[in-house]
Formats: sequence, C-alpha cells, structure tokens
Amino acid sequence: MSGLFSSFTLKDVTLRNRIAIPPMCQYSAVDGLSNDWHRVHYNSLARGGAGLVIVEATAVAPEGRITPGCLGIWNDAQAEKLAQIAREIKAAGAVPGIQIAHAGRKASANKPWEGDDHIAADEGRGWETIAPSAVAFGENLPQVPKAMTLDDIARVRNDFVTAAKRALDAGFEWLELHFAHGYLAQSFFSVAANQRTDAYGGDVAGRSRFLLETFDAVRAVWPENLPLTARFGVIEYDGRDEETLEESIGLTKQMRANGLDLLSVSVGFSTPHANIPWGPAFLAPVAERVRREAQIPVASAWGIDSPRIANETIEQGQLDLVMVGRAHLKNPNWSYQAALALDKSDPSWVLPAPYAHWLERYRVSEA
Ligand SMILES: Cc1cc2nc3c(=O)[nH]c(=O)nc-3n(C[C@H](O)[C@H](O)[C@H](O)COP(=O)(O)O)c2cc1C
Repeated sequence: MSGLFSSFTLKDVTLRNRIAIPPMCQYSAVDGLSNDWHRVHYNSLARGGAGLVIVEATAVAPEGRITPGCLGIWNDAQAEKLAQIAREIKAAGAVPGIQIAHAGRKASANKPWEGDDHIAADEGRGWETIAPSAVAFGENLPQVPKAMTLDDIARVRNDFVTAAKRALDAGFEWLELHFAHGYLAQSFFSVAANQRTDAYGGDVAGRSRFLLETFDAVRAVWPENLPLTARFGVIEYDGRDEETLEESIGLTKQMRANGLDLLSVSVGFSTPHANIPWGPAFLAPVAERVRREAQIPVASAWGIDSPRIANETIEQGQLDLVMVGRAHLKNPNWSYQAALALDKSDPSWVLPAPYAHWLERYRVSEA
C-alpha cells in the first residue's frame, strides 16, 4: 500500500501511517512543567490515529522559552512529567516525538492570545533575550537581544545535548531539533539576524556553524537506531529565495552526511517583512526539491488539511510524512476522517477499539 496510510520506517522506528502531528505550543505550562492540559491534549491526539505525535517546542534553557507558558526540559522534574506523556502517546499506538528548542530573540513574549508581543520591560515577567547579534526582530517583537559570547554559544549547545539526553531517558523515540521559525538556530543562519564578524557569522559556512555544531553534539548522544531530525526554515520569502534555498540545501546535505535522518521543511520566519504565498500545501514543492537535491526523507506542514491533498503529497513523492497541525486541533480524530474520505477498507480501526468497535458497527448497519 502506498499513500497516507502506508507505514513508514526510519531507523528502528515504524510509524503506522504517514500522518504526523507537528509540534504545537500550548502556552499552558508553569515553570516549564507539563500538566493535565498537556496530558489530555497529547493523549487525544495520539488516540486519534496519527503515526507520530511531536510534543511542542520544549525549551532547553529557561531563557529559551517563547513565553512564560512554554514547556521546558532543562531539569529532571520537567523530564519526569514529559515521560508520562511519552508513555501515553506510545500506549495509544503513536510514536512519541519531541521538539527541543531555544527561542533566541523571539523569547520573552506574551501568549498569542494575550498580545503575541514582547513582554514590556517594566512588567517584571520578562527576561533578557539572546541571539547571534544585538538585532531585534522588529514589529511586535522589538526587544533588542544580547549578542551571544562564545561562552554563551557553547553553553546553549550543551543545553541542547543535555535536553536530548533527558528526552531519551523520558522515552521519546523521535527527536526534532528546532532550527526553524526565526528562533535561535534559524537566526544564526539568517543574513538578516546574524551580523557577527567571527566564526559564527559572515558567509554560509559561518552562519551554519552553530547549527552544525549543535547537530553534531546532539548526534553524539542520541542513539544511532532512533530518528534524529531537524525542523529548518529553508526559505524566507524575502526576495532572496533562490540563494537561501541553495544555502539551506547545502546545510541539509552536511547534516545528512553527519547523521540527520529526516528534515522537516519549513519557513524561516526571520523577518516580519516576508511575502509568504499562503495556500494549501504551498510548501510541498519546496520540500520535494529539498528531498530530491539533498537525498533525504522530508516532512512538511502548512495548510495540509485536506485528506486528498495529504495523500497526493505522499503518492507523488513530494513528502515522506505529512504534518497536519491545526486540522488536528479542530478534530483530533482527523486520521479517521481522512481514512473515511480516502475510502480505506477499515477506517474505523484507525481509532482505538473502544471507539472503533462502535463506529464499525454503525458503518455496517448503515450499509
Ligand atoms: C498553536 C500552534 C502552536 C505551534 N507551535 C509550534 C511549535 O512549538 N514548534 C514549531 O515548530 N511549530 C509550531 N507551530 C507551527 C505548526 O507546527 C505548523 O507548522 C503550522 O500550524 C502549519 O501547519 P497546519 O497548517 O497544518 O496547521 C505551531 C502552530 C500552531 C497553530
């Protein structure tokens, strides 16, 4: 069987289908700790039938949270709570993944529904942000970050390594490094955000250094038999697109040679002035190019909520995995809906037996 409901094996991990739930911040943690909200949320997503559930951006250090409500994995108490979520995702038949992250100059922000802007300096809830250079993102995120010293760079790299070890001990079987969306790693790669004149800036080799070193350091501790992946914004839609894409594919090839198992292809979001061609599956052709030129399995998201389109991206060899985000917030059983729409022979069995039994009976009596 090919298409959305075919299984997918990467290293020693097999997903029951090609549907992945991308990381989606819940902004509902306190002190970086997950709670009942996260447990119910991830349980319902995993029970809905997707092959892979990736836990939201989880900060490797306190200052790496986007908002005060973001998850963290910089201490054992946080990892212990995440371990329960990993166990429950697995028990529901999905593979438990986690995205580890540092928000860089986009950190210290209010929750999206409380402004989505930087926390005002006089409020006392915010913190100093760090980035490759002392350059603000702009618009709603005007706070000027502190330019990282070489010691800061080494410390954050080690934070990623420690976080990866904790994620492994917590039972996650799929690790995604957040190198996208204008956060810390992406801003090292970005010509707009990175104005360093040392080894971590300048030409593409310099702008790639933090990402490559962090990747290599994590690869050294993450087991060979489990997928190590990254989410990376390969294009900014800022008018420099072909150059950025070529540089991004070059970096992807280097990471692949060093053990990257899959790239989750995304947008850079390094500038508020991008001109993004939003539309259903608009990024799929870009992902397909990365897949072909870098010779690496790819996943991608953005506007893939139609089962037919999701299936086509797999059948046509654009994507290896389809990330379906907001459609799962609307309907955690999106996989079931997709199986029905694609006329799979036993769609109800996408769901666990206590649901599937009744849905199958209903279909039989309906026929
Ligand atoms: C509520 C919400 C939170 C998100 N949080 C993250 C995140 O933690 N990490 C990340 O890489 N992307 C994040 N994203 C982006 C999603 O992973 C996904 O790329 C985006 O929603 C587009 O896919 P969709 O059109 O299927 O929703 C978030 C999106 C939403 C809607």
